[in-house]
Amino acid sequence: MSQRRVMRSVLDTSLLLQMLFSCFSSLYSSSCELQERFHLNGMHKTGDVILGGLFKLHFFAAEPDLSFTSEPQQPDCFGFDATGFRKAQTMAFAIDEINRNSDLLPNVTLGYSLYDNCLQLRIGFRAALSLVSGQEEQVTLEENCVGPPPVLGVVGDYTSTNTISISTVLGLYKVPLVSYFATCTCLGDRQKFPSFFRTIPNDTFQVRAMIQILKRFGWTWAGLLISNDDYGIHGARIFHSDMGPVGGGCLAYTEILPWGDDPAELRRIVDVMRKSTARVVIVFAHESHVIQLLGEVVRQNVTGLQWIASVDWTSVAVLQTPDLMPYLGGTLGIAIRRGEIPELRDFLLQIRPDLHHNTTQEKYMVNQFWENTFRCRFEPPPAGWAEAGGELCTGQEAIEDVESEFLDISDLRIDYNVYKSVYALAYALDDMLQCEPGRGPFSNNTCAHLQKLEPWQMIYYLEKVNFTTTFGHQVSFDENGDAIPVYDIMNWVWLPDGRTKVQRVGEVQRSAFKAEELTLDEDKIFWNFESKQPPRSVCSESCPPGTRMARKRGEPECCFDCVPCSEGKISNMTDSMECTSCPEDFWSSLQRDHCVPKQTEYLSYYEPLGICLTFTSLLGTFICIVVLGIFIHHHSTPIVRANNSELSFLLLVSLKLCFLCSLLFIGRPRPWTCQLRHAAFGISFVLCVSCILVKTMVVLAVFRASKPGGESSLKWFGAVQQRGTVLVLTSIQAAICTVWLVSASPMPYKNTQYYNDKIVYECVVGSTVGFAVLLGYIGLLAILSCLLAFLARNLPDSFNEAKLITFSMLIFCAVWVAFIPAYINSPGKYADAVEVFAILASSFGILVALFGPKCYIILVRPERNTKKAIMGRGKGSENPI
Ligand SMILES: *[C@@H]1O[C@H](CO)[C@@H](O)[C@H](O)[C@H]1NC(C)=O
Ligand SMILES: *[C@@H]1O[C@H](CO)[C@@H](O)[C@H](O)[C@H]1NC(C)=O
Ligand SMILES: *[C@@H]1O[C@H](CO)[C@@H](O)[C@H](O)[C@H]1NC(C)=O
Ligand SMILES: *[C@@H]1O[C@H](CO)[C@@H](O)[C@H](O)[C@H]1NC(C)=O
Ligand SMILES: *[C@@H]1O[C@H](CO)[C@@H](O)[C@H](O)[C@H]1NC(C)=O
Ligand SMILES: *[C@@H]1O[C@H](CO)[C@@H](O)[C@H](O)[C@H]1NC(C)=O
Ligand SMILES: *[C@@H]1O[C@H](CO)[C@@H](O)[C@H](O)[C@H]1NC(C)=O
Repeated sequence: MSQRRVMRSVLDTSLLLQMLFSCFSSLYSSSCELQERFHLNGMHKTGDVILGGLFKLHFFAAEPDLSFTSEPQQPDCFGFDATGFRKAQTMAFAIDEINRNSDLLPNVTLGYSLYDNCLQLRIGFRAALSLVSGQEEQVTLEENCVGPPPVLGVVGDYTSTNTISISTVLGLYKVPLVSYFATCTCLGDRQKFPSFFRTIPNDTFQVRAMIQILKRFGWTWAGLLISNDDYGIHGARIFHSDMGPVGGGCLAYTEILPWGDDPAELRRIVDVMRKSTARVVIVFAHESHVIQLLGEVVRQNVTGLQWIASVDWTSVAVLQTPDLMPYLGGTLGIAIRRGEIPELRDFLLQIRPDLHHNTTQEKYMVNQFWENTFRCRFEPPPAGWAEAGGELCTGQEAIEDVESEFLDISDLRIDYNVYKSVYALAYALDDMLQCEPGRGPFSNNTCAHLQKLEPWQMIYYLEKVNFTTTFGHQVSFDENGDAIPVYDIMNWVWLPDGRTKVQRVGEVQRSAFKAEELTLDEDKIFWNFESKQPPRSVCSESCPPGTRMARKRGEPECCFDCVPCSEGKISNMTDSMECTSCPEDFWSSLQRDHCVPKQTEYLSYYEPLGICLTFTSLLGTFICIVVLGIFIHHHSTPIVRANNSELSFLLLVSLKLCFLCSLLFIGRPRPWTCQLRHAAFGISFVLCVSCILVKTMVVLAVFRASKPGGESSLKWFGAVQQRGTVLVLTSIQAAICTVWLVSASPMPYKNTQYYNDKIVYECVVGSTVGFAVLLGYIGLLAILSCLLAFLARNLPDSFNEAKLITFSMLIFCAVWVAFIPAYINSPGKYADAVEVFAILASSFGILVALFGPKCYIILVRPERNTKKAIMGRGKGSENPI
């Protein structure tokens, strides 16, 4: 029934209520009478204080004739519900027990008025109105209205829809209503339902308990079936709002089960269930809906589903038949916490048919029960009844032998809630009567009086009630009037012999942190699947590490694709929402599931290129040493003496330094190697080139000296000046280096621009100008020597080195001219390699060009290493040194 219809009927009936006692005010009469007396099934007991009760005794009621051609008949109920009757009897028992208890409510006798609602709002509503207005047909105005009101509190109703309407009206009269089965969260609204309490948790808790189960087994993809009433619609709303945030799951579909058996609609719904990829079906619906649904499920043979049952049908015996087990076996359900009422069975066994009751006005439940159990008749039996073998009640019937659902009190759940509800009212009343005059809670510190009890006073005490049942369960109400939230989790076990056992496999309750806490004994759970394992129910399989989830457009959140992380990003957990970037200096692994340190690249001593260059450099150094050795050994021979041996030695030493400085370019760059490598390179080369320059100048000076009038030039450019020139030229380079290092020193640098996954260790030059000046200065000296040597190349000299110098300088310049573009274009370590190569090539060039021929003469052609041979080559004078 839609909310709107409910509200309409609430409105209508509250008007009716105001008119109920409308007096047919006439001048002649001073009495009022009920406008209409409802025909209801009821059960009554007198007492000082009366508690009302609303129970489901019948499943159906006849539709009234609404043609209004005659006064509409009051509805008849049929389809007797024995377990509903047991709930009513449980209330009667609880009141009986309280009356016998000398600690609780001494001196006060409780009575009751229990009515049948026939599972219909219109009947439940009539019953509720009858409870609050009383059933006296006539009220004489002269009587002063003393004594307690008709009822001080009502236990009920059964369904949420009924309770919403009834509670709205009872709220107006401030009559407390304590429900034992109405779970709708909407009833927790204190503004709308100020007098409502319940001994069952609300649906928010039930839904969250179900979500906890889904979460436990990783079922993120489930279908939802709901009843078409307040209960189902409110429940679906909670699922829709909580499923994602609380459970991280999604609903594959939400279907509303039709009222009544609508085959086409049911077929469509079962079709949806069968075609969906969701293996888990949550059925948040009343048992009658589930029974209808199951008919269609069996017809279409839809197996392989995992059912999740709401409180309504977890314990319904009709569904636990062998025929249904292929479909429903393994169902997990939410159930009210079980309790025990030890003496209830004895009480039930004492029920006797009441033959003397007048059944024309009220049908009495007990008699209904007997009528159903023994078919005994209270009204005069129809003609021929006894002759036809019909049994007649004797009033002595006993029900011990009846093995019925009615007497099975091993699994009291709703009944136990009824019991708790009655006790809650009794404890509240007891508290109220124990009030000490003058210290009461009401205005002017007054107390309530037994003679003048008001239902609203009960509400005050109900809010505070806190007691423990004989079975040990604590009962109190929170600020919304809800019970302490706790539910059992049940599992339908399909036994080998085909029978069903509903066993408790866990519970869910509220933890200290106000979150739902699920305790499950998973080993005990029966799974109705071949694997005997929980099924999988997901829309998309989870994304492995290394990928991230990408929502599919237009589909629920649980349906996604897995997209691999891009380079440099990782996800190290399954179902990552996004990939995270690796920290600096780290890079993603091949699987993109963790970060690995980036590879570092530099010209190392351990790689072939580095080894080659090192070897070459050491070889160069070695050759320099060998040449030096040869020169020292043959220092007195003319060719050594003729060639300005001091400068030659210095040149060899500087060449050695050139070879060695190339080693500074190999290996991991460190601050000191970075700074030293260019300085050492610059200074060694300037030393080397300036030696050559001085040598050339010496050649020119010797030539000048050999000309007439040029004797002084040799004196002018003597040994001291030569040394001084070398020193000055080198010092200039040293000064350049010093300025460079001090102002903008080269530093090691981790370059990540060349490659994503590699760090290139390199030395940044710090100041490009510094580097250019350093190179430029070397180049300048080299070009100068080259030019001078070129001028002197044809001079007739004893052993003219000028050609060799020209040649070596040309090699030198060629190497360094080629170096610059190669250096600029080489990435990372190859820039270093190019520089090392240039250093080695130019050094070898000089070494081979300058010293090769001399060594050749010294070692291979000693006959040419004579003064005469050298002199013979030209007419020039002997070299001065
Ligand atoms: C119950 O009634 C008896 C007699 O009327 C009285 O003595 C006793 O105090 C009463 N007990 C309570 C708790 O009111
Ligand atoms: C429903 O129950 C939950 C858990 O017991 C509670 O936190 C919540 O406040 C209740 N909601 C209403 C509206 O009563
Ligand atoms: C139902 O389906 C199952 C397999 O899906 C099959 O084994 C079984 O025989 C079917 N039952 C009926 C009654 O068709
Ligand atoms: C039953 O009720 C009818 C109508 O109110 C009355 O006439 C009759 O006497 C009653 N019978 C008994 C046994 O109370
Ligand atoms: C409270 O007591 C005062 C004085 O005794 C009286 O005037 C007032 O009406 C009382 N209020 C109620 C609500 O009884
Ligand atoms: C009820 O009483 C018990 C102790 O008897 C206490 O632990 C509990 O907190 C009380 N509950 C409420 C809601 O006051
Ligand atoms: C995933 O990475 C984060 C940080 O990057 C780390 O804290 C966490 O422990 C990692 N998790 C796993 C399962 O490796």
